Amino acid sequence: MDWGKKNRMDRIIRPDGHTLMLAVDHGYFLGPTSGLEKPRKMIMQLAPYADCLMPTRGVLRNCVDTNIDIPVVLRVSGGTSVIGKEILHEGITVSMKDAVRLNVAGVAFSIMVGSEYERDTILGLSQVVDQAEEYGIPVVAVTAVGKDMARDDRYFALASRIAAEHGASIVKTYYCDRFERVVDTCTVPVVIAGGKKLPEMEALEMAYKAIEAGAAGVDMGRNIFQADNPVAMIKAVRAIVHEKATPREAYNILKANSRKKK
Ligand code: 5RP
Repeated sequence: MDWGKKNRMDRIIRPDGHTLMLAVDHGYFLGPTSGLEKPRKMIMQLAPYADCLMPTRGVLRNCVDTNIDIPVVLRVSGGTSVIGKEILHEGITVSMKDAVRLNVAGVAFSIMVGSEYERDTILGLSQVVDQAEEYGIPVVAVTAVGKDMARDDRYFALASRIAAEHGASIVKTYYCDRFERVVDTCTVPVVIAGGKKLPEMEALEMAYKAIEAGAAGVDMGRNIFQADNPVAMIKAVRAIVHEKATPREAYNILKANSRKKK
């Protein structure tokens, strides 16, 4: 691997092999998502505890200070919305030239394996990988999943492996039972999305089980920024990702930090 790409990978995944990525890209299909109505305030208070930020270019340019010291994985897919008919049909929304201009450490692109549009999205991923490799930029492939699809290890292992086979350097997928199988059969590091907001203890247990199963980390959004105390929650997740904390220990960190002034 060339120095530039390796350096970017090392900035995203820390020396212990783990990463806490903070997903704040939701507006690209959800609009002003709860917790991110004013992205700047939320992002700037959480960023000190994250290893990496995952925004859109709009949020990055308008809501993130330029002197921030954190690698950015830029969302470069979209084109559909939560109220449209074809949410599982994303295309490329950002040129690699603009990604380079934004000094990113990586780019993120969603594929929709098993949907009517899987071919378009997998070809889109391949195109992004071709362009990104020219500049040594790692691609994070996100395995998006339709409402009526089975959320099991068979599906996530299939979608994750397909993403890796098409050149993704990291795969972002969802936690499921027998998650070891998803990690073991994927040839690149795997991180989990948090998904819809869960009770805090359940989100911490999910992060713990994913790390135990071999995940490189989490790329979590709503379960952090929609928590009652987002800073306390990111500190708790961080303890699981980097300090081998159990869910109970992490929950105690959450509670101790929640008592402090928000
Ligand atoms: C969509 C995405 C989201 O925009 C986001 O990054 C997911 O994060 P979370 O589920 O933890 O809120 O990846 O496919």
